[in-house]
Amino acid sequence: MRKLLQPYVLAGLAGLFCCGLVFAQATATQKAPAKTKPDVIFVPTPEVVVDEMLQLAELTDKDVHYDLGCGDGRIVVAAAKRGAKSRGFDIDPKRLRESQANIAKNNVGDLAKVSQADIFTLDLSGASVVTLYLLPSLNVKLIPQLEKLKPGSRIVSHDFDMKGIKPEKVVKVQGPTREHTVYLWRTPLQKEEKDN
Ligand SMILES: C[S@@+](CC[C@H](N)C(=O)[O-])C[C@H]1O[C@@H](n2cnc3c(N)ncnc32)[C@H](O)[C@@H]1O
Repeated sequence: MRKLLQPYVLAGLAGLFCCGLVFAQATATQKAPAKTKPDVIFVPTPEVVVDEMLQLAELTDKDVHYDLGCGDGRIVVAAAKRGAKSRGFDIDPKRLRESQANIAKNNVGDLAKVSQADIFTLDLSGASVVTLYLLPSLNVKLIPQLEKLKPGSRIVSHDFDMKGIKPEKVVKVQGPTREHTVYLWRTPLQKEEKDN
């Protein structure tokens, strides 16, 4: 009797094993849940620094501007007020609501738009000016995306450098409570020479 049942038991076990494999594969190919947590908290750039950033980037009405991590939308609004098409991206829905209110209050909805996104998933090739107020490590993480900008595009960063990439200019700005630094890079990005 045991001998008679053996093939069926083996076939059953093999079936279970295959089902397990299929299930494991399906689970592995499922998309990871979208990121919702910001990599850096919201700290607004003072208006005087916003002005310096856009001036240093030589932003005009011919530009398409992206602010990566747009917070309350102040840089998006300022760029649109200078006639540029401006796009803000933030991962935090609260910040997007603030940006939308700011865009409506300043009546720049024809040029300014914001959307929810993880900035590290964005295709930046449509921008000619990119503004950043993130962290040094996050600026470095963005390099592969920034390298895809069209030649002649400008990147400006409030307070933080981008290790490995040589800035074209570094400017100090006196804010309401402290001195700020603004960095400018132009594409194609110039790699810093390594020290021996
Ligand atoms: C220091 S604030 C700068 C806000 C604005 N750009 C300014 O200068 O006033 C950084 C912003 O980046 C957003 N942020 C952080 N990590 C992000 C990510 N991975 N994707 C999109 N936004 C992110 C935060 O929610 C926050 O609003």
